[in-house]
Amino acid sequence: MDEGIPICNAMFSILGPAFGIRSSTSSVSSIASIAMIDLILGKEIASYVRRHRGMVICALVLMAISSLFVVVPAYLLQPFVDEGMKTGSAPVAWKIPWIQLDAGSWFCWKKTEVTIVEGITPNRLLSLLTLVAFVSIFIKSVTTYFGGLSAAAFSNRAVRSLRIDLFAQFISLSPGFYHKRKSGELIARSTADLAVLQGLIAEVLLGLIEYPLTALVFLIYLFVMNYKLTLLVFFAVPLIALLVRIFGKKVKKHSFRVQEATAEVTSAYHETLLCLKLVHGFFMGNWEVKRFSNLAENLYQRIMHWNRWQLGLGPMMDSVVFLVMPGVLIVGKVYFHHSLGELMAMAYAFSRVYRPVKRLALVNNQIKTLQGATQRVFGIMRTVSDIRDPSGADALPRHRETITFDKVSFGYSPREWVLKDVSFCIKKGEMVAFVGSTGAGKSTLLSLIPRFYDVTEGKISIDGIDIRDVTLKSLRRQIGVVNQEILLFNETVQYNIGYGDPEKGMKAIISAAKAAHAHDFIMAQPHGYETMVGDQGSLLSGGQRQRIAIARAILIDPAVLMLDEAASALDAESEGRVQKAIEGLKGSRTILIVAHRLSTIMRADRIFVLEAGSIVESGTLEELLALKGRFRQLHDMQFGGEARGQRV
Ligand SMILES: Nc1ncnc2c1ncn2[C@@H]1O[C@H](COP(=O)(O)OP(=O)(O)OP(=O)(O)O)[C@@H](O)[C@H]1O
Ligand SMILES: [Mg+2]
Repeated sequence: MDEGIPICNAMFSILGPAFGIRSSTSSVSSIASIAMIDLILGKEIASYVRRHRGMVICALVLMAISSLFVVVPAYLLQPFVDEGMKTGSAPVAWKIPWIQLDAGSWFCWKKTEVTIVEGITPNRLLSLLTLVAFVSIFIKSVTTYFGGLSAAAFSNRAVRSLRIDLFAQFISLSPGFYHKRKSGELIARSTADLAVLQGLIAEVLLGLIEYPLTALVFLIYLFVMNYKLTLLVFFAVPLIALLVRIFGKKVKKHSFRVQEATAEVTSAYHETLLCLKLVHGFFMGNWEVKRFSNLAENLYQRIMHWNRWQLGLGPMMDSVVFLVMPGVLIVGKVYFHHSLGELMAMAYAFSRVYRPVKRLALVNNQIKTLQGATQRVFGIMRTVSDIRDPSGADALPRHRETITFDKVSFGYSPREWVLKDVSFCIKKGEMVAFVGSTGAGKSTLLSLIPRFYDVTEGKISIDGIDIRDVTLKSLRRQIGVVNQEILLFNETVQYNIGYGDPEKGMKAIISAAKAAHAHDFIMAQPHGYETMVGDQGSLLSGGQRQRIAIARAILIDPAVLMLDEAASALDAESEGRVQKAIEGLKGSRTILIVAHRLSTIMRADRIFVLEAGSIVESGTLEELLALKGRFRQLHDMQFGGEARGQRV
């Protein structure tokens, strides 16, 4: 049911005016044309295409003109054969079939002829017909070219806007969205699916104007020639409609599967490239190739399934038409006594009616493919990020007083608590450390402050303001984060340090690098600050990467600095220097550190011990060691008590 409607409605709005069914006002017709684009492409894509309405109309008009000109050869063929081929120089005439309506009645008409030229020799008629044919083909070619160009422009512009919006959407979605999805699959959405849309938008829209119009002009010609004979052709219509329906459904189903399999293949590329060191390290190359071969095989199978239905429709329709066409010509000769020229012109016209009808059926398949790609792309576009600015939110003033956790509980999934009932208050300028066994929830706790995730229960406030009530930008621009996993762009050192604030000049970058004790090693690189860091910073050592990340965090002059295992990859000497740098920031900034090394923790004003998502102890280093509780236990377990003063 559904696949018939867009085509029918679209055809009506296109052909309505051609039949003289006009909308009463121009606004009605513009609403009709908007509705047409909506119906054919679906509301979502249509909203992008409509932005380039001028181009769409230009393409459609040019294509419409081009399709009107295809009928010209049919009008030329009959006089060419019947008159132009006569021998001798007896004068001949060029007449074209016409309809004369009876005055006063709409449905009574008779076939007449209109004389274009008469009294010329057959040879001159042939020259004239050839000239007319050339001019009409030339006009058709020019309009087809410029129509195609406008179509390419509007469809590519629409996809360009969609591509940008999809990219912006990827960025705006919260980390929670990405945990459940493979990034390769998301890349496939923005490449393979958008490529499908790019290819099909124009084809479908133009197809729906060009093909019905071409069919219509030939049908009019045929009706004028012999309407009874033409009606015979309509016997094939129900059969063709049935075929279109069956094939359309299958094509949609299989195109969806093809795109899914494409996404799996893209995903495999992406993941393997990311983990290439692992693949080499464990010598799993052959195994990965085998795994990939299965995915490639699956993709091939699905593409072939899709092709079976996609390509099957054309030949099936050809067979149906083959049954009808010879019958029509035989009846034309035996019962209606048409001349050879007339029969040739009619056979030509019949074939030209059929061709667009067949293409229209294929357009239906294309609409199905387009709908599949649209569903996947807009599935993402419709996702609303759960972490966003509340309406009418104010900016958070620069932090001056406290950061408070008030009975905060959090779980990545419902009822699976990672943090439970966590409460504490940190004063401005304080340096606090979080310790605890792995998986205790330290990184999770830090990630709640910039709102990478929202608390499930309780609230976090900065200077007494709930962080969910202020703009994300004002919150995050105050927080410098050095994550446990260091993320770097495959760009220069300068770009990576300056990333948080590209406005800041080289001077600020160098002083941030010096503060993070990164300047010396950067200057030792062959290109200094212009050195490329490689994919994910792979050209640098772990410690170098960490120092660049620290410099990047310091550069934005944050009110709050959060360092998650930021010194873990540094040697003792560098760490000491980074510690000094961090200490230099103490007092002016609030610093939250997750660290296992005692040298870091020692300088903290307070230490929180986190176990299974709850704070079990808090106090200064001395207080906690004296408490002989969990902190002391952790400390002694790791170092047998000997290394006290070294690591926890
Ligand atoms: N994105 C996530 N989705 C679901 N669970 C997660 C996610 N990230 C972490 N977890 C779980 O939350 C718990 C706390 O993780 P978290 O990374 O906060 O621990 P941590 O204290 O920082 O550990 P470590 O010292 O090893 O870094 C762990 O049990 C972990 O499995
Ligand atoms: Mg962690």
